[in-house]
Amino acid sequence: MIRILSRLSTFYLDPPIKLCLALACTLQAAVLGLAVPWILKVVLDEGLNAQPHAHFFWLAGGLLLAVTLGRGLAIFGHQYLASALAYTMAYRLRNMLYDHIQHLSFADHDQTRTGELMSRTTADVEAVRLFFHFGLPTIINLLLTGAGTIVAMAWLDLRFALVALLSVPLFLGLAVGIATLLRPLQSRVQACTAELSVALQESLAGIRVVKAFAREPQQVAHVDRVAATLYEAYLRVTHVQALNLPLLTLLLSLAIALTLYVGGQRVIDGALPLGSLVAATGYLAQLAQPLRRLSWLTGMASRCHASGARLFEVLDTPPQVRERSKARELNRVEGAVHLKHVSFHYTDGVPVLRDVSFRAEPGTVTAFLGSTGSGKTTLAQLIPRFYDVSSGCITLDDVDIREVSLASLRRRIGLVMQDALLFSTTIRDNITYGLGGVSCEAITAAAKAARAHDFILQFPDGYDTWVGERGVTLSGGQRQRIAIARAFVRDPRVLILDDATSSVDMETEWLIQQALTELMAGRTTLIIAQRLRTLKLADTILVLEQGRIVQRGTHRELVERPGLYRRIYDLQLRDQDEADITLHRPLNPELAASLADRKVSS
Ligand SMILES: Nc1ncnc2c1ncn2[C@@H]1O[C@H](COP(=O)(O)OP(=O)(O)OP(=O)(O)O)[C@@H](O)[C@H]1O
Ligand SMILES: [Mg+2]
Repeated sequence: MIRILSRLSTFYLDPPIKLCLALACTLQAAVLGLAVPWILKVVLDEGLNAQPHAHFFWLAGGLLLAVTLGRGLAIFGHQYLASALAYTMAYRLRNMLYDHIQHLSFADHDQTRTGELMSRTTADVEAVRLFFHFGLPTIINLLLTGAGTIVAMAWLDLRFALVALLSVPLFLGLAVGIATLLRPLQSRVQACTAELSVALQESLAGIRVVKAFAREPQQVAHVDRVAATLYEAYLRVTHVQALNLPLLTLLLSLAIALTLYVGGQRVIDGALPLGSLVAATGYLAQLAQPLRRLSWLTGMASRCHASGARLFEVLDTPPQVRERSKARELNRVEGAVHLKHVSFHYTDGVPVLRDVSFRAEPGTVTAFLGSTGSGKTTLAQLIPRFYDVSSGCITLDDVDIREVSLASLRRRIGLVMQDALLFSTTIRDNITYGLGGVSCEAITAAAKAARAHDFILQFPDGYDTWVGERGVTLSGGQRQRIAIARAFVRDPRVLILDDATSSVDMETEWLIQQALTELMAGRTTLIIAQRLRTLKLADTILVLEQGRIVQRGTHRELVERPGLYRRIYDLQLRDQDEADITLHRPLNPELAASLADRKVSS
């Protein structure tokens, strides 16, 4: 617990000036708080027994008021500064966490769920903030008031101090016991909160699928189940916390009773003034306030500990794909991509790519073909280092891609992936995503080349049209063309295209095909192709089967040889030849549609 709290406190201790001021305010509030029972003692002992000064009670009243005002000001300063420090801490922690999550690799994200990470950046950071905002200042206040009380009571009578000192281990024992009971329960609360976050995130992100399959009742029942688990976890915490207050009150009452017993005897014997006894009970009552909060404090501390552990679990996860310390920048490239004996597995013992070697010369088109699950997307993802090869190596212009900085490598590579993901912003911002200072002309030129300009202009807001979350307000074909425009604007030397023309109608496919042909011109292109037209364009086709290259050559060469390519051609590609003839002529939508129907039914 101490290790995690001290690691967390490194986010809190800055700036030291604010921290010092906050501590000074806390100290002032504690000292002035201790002055109040002392003033009462003086009033009782001096004012009632002796002949008081004419203005004695006015002076005492004025002093009490001044002390209360001073204490109020100190509490204000302390609360303001404690809030500022805690919010700054949460801000830093959240930024650091998000920054780290952004730098994790695909492999790390494969193992964590989005909702879980969301819960860590929100609920867990919040639990830490609450402890440092309210819990830690209360502990400091408790320590200062406790030490001050013991000193003041010793000043009044050593026996009082002995009573106070004897009760300290009991209070601490209770606090530690409750904290020990609470810790696993709080961890469970945090885990259930994350589980709820995952359930909500997945069902909301997938709401279209939920509705399409009419699974709303099951989804509601699932979230209900997870929420009920969280509710039960909270109840268990509440049970333990509820035990704390009666036990504390009992201990406190015992301490007051003992003080009254010891002090009462001394007052009766005339060895102690009455004011001292009243002041001693006043000190104990004053100490009761922060002590009563011990249950709340232990709960907060164990929640902070559980959350801190979860935060450091993420922060301590090194990205699986890491940059070398002296990684150099990849500036100009020609675009020669070379894979040398590359093997890869996601999970140990389950190879996905086996001994893949090929060289794509600058400006050439290399197409990958293979059945589903044969490793095409995996292969494409190794080139921008989304994953690192398990063995072998990949070079770009004969430089191992592990030698260069990730940002500069990825800047040289344009990607249009299987599922073109857009952000909920304008079409313009989606096209220029991540690039500053792109002129309007360059954006329009990219959109025209991507055959997206015409449909963009049909929207009332043109390039400033807001696309919904993940681009849902656009059709699949429109999304793909925006993604192609995005690649155009970057003007990369190496292009990776994954199945870019699936799931669209034939006319859109034709437009996308034209856009891609334009985009590919003069660049090294690696394309995962299901379309005959793309395969015919390719300088080399690599046929993959279970992660191995089983055939390579041009379309002409491969179609004449018996083998997997020929089989795929006969089964899936041959009828595209007929559609091709149609589409190379000015498009006749009816004929195209009837060809599309034939394809679907076959
Ligand atoms: N993130 C991942 N973690 C673990 N295994 C994965 C992951 N992604 C893919 N795989 C597995 O790796 C194999 C190759 O998948 P890959 O996506 O590369 O196939 P593909 O050839 O692109 O298929 P498709 O034509 O359907 O897109 C599959 O068996 C798949 O289950
Ligand atoms: Mg794929």
